[in-house]
Amino acid sequence: MIDTFAQDVLAGLTAENKYLSSKYFYDDKGSRIFQEIMNMPEYYLTNAEFEILSMQSQQIIEALQFSTPFNIVELGAGDGLKTFKLLEYLVNSNIKFNYVPIDISQEAIDVLTKRLKERLPNLNIKPKVGDYFEILKVNKQSDYPSLLLFLGGNIGNYDENKAKDLLNLFNDVMKFGDKLLIGFDLKKNPILIHNAYYDKHGITKRFNLNLLLRINRELEADFKIDDFDFYCHYNPMTGNVKSYIVSLRKQTVELKALNKSIDFDYDELIWTELSKKYSIDDIQSLAKTTSFKVNTNFLDCKHYFTDSLWEK
Ligand code: AVI
Repeated sequence: MIDTFAQDVLAGLTAENKYLSSKYFYDDKGSRIFQEIMNMPEYYLTNAEFEILSMQSQQIIEALQFSTPFNIVELGAGDGLKTFKLLEYLVNSNIKFNYVPIDISQEAIDVLTKRLKERLPNLNIKPKVGDYFEILKVNKQSDYPSLLLFLGGNIGNYDENKAKDLLNLFNDVMKFGDKLLIGFDLKKNPILIHNAYYDKHGITKRFNLNLLLRINRELEADFKIDDFDFYCHYNPMTGNVKSYIVSLRKQTVELKALNKSIDFDYDELIWTELSKKYSIDDIQSLAKTTSFKVNTNFLDCKHYFTDSLWEK
């Protein structure tokens, strides 16, 4: 029996146009490299969203028009740093709420819980580890209104159909009146977007090639990292950043655990990631087709990013 990771890698590397899913970037090392990306000045997304949540906490909470207490349920909470300012505002204003961070990684949840308990001792935190939807199923039974957080621009890593499926699932678990705050990276000067992904330090390249190291480790493969490079491209017409691993020579890689060898042509690509950028109109129509109503778009001062508040 081979697991989902093995199945997905096999399907991607034997496809006519090779691909690997960016959801597999985030092993322990990949998560640390992603932290490095978020600290790069070129990767403006993190600072833009941090600014929104720091400067506009009060406006966001007022727009909810919730009775208290309420729930704040964060999907893929990670290190929770961006959410800290919002939580801090609520705690300092003596507003009653439960914070329910959900993450697939026990380690991430442990670190986050420890840090928040130190920094905000009065916070009512109910961390959960596991699959979003299993955990979210109980949301409908809650007596309290809920705000779901899906931050960081993660929606950009889903293609149009998958984004719609995900948002429909969110909609299914929400009660009438619940709200969703969702982070979108906005279309902007293509040079800025290009520089955020094709960074001169090579951190994003390391982030991508780390997936090959993961395959080496977990599927007993023999990818030689120096024989692969990284390329990415932003198309301002579609809003798509697409990232690729490039084979620098004709070569064969063995995946021992799967008893399979994969041939690569000179310059052959493996598509690894989509990072989609949205316009305000794109956001509006995505909300409409998934039965949501846009309440407010909270923007950073440069209008690079929006945390868009949706209601069911
Ligand atoms: C997690 N996600 C929103 C990031 C993005 O911008 O697509 C992942 C990333 N890939 C390269 N740099 C950052």
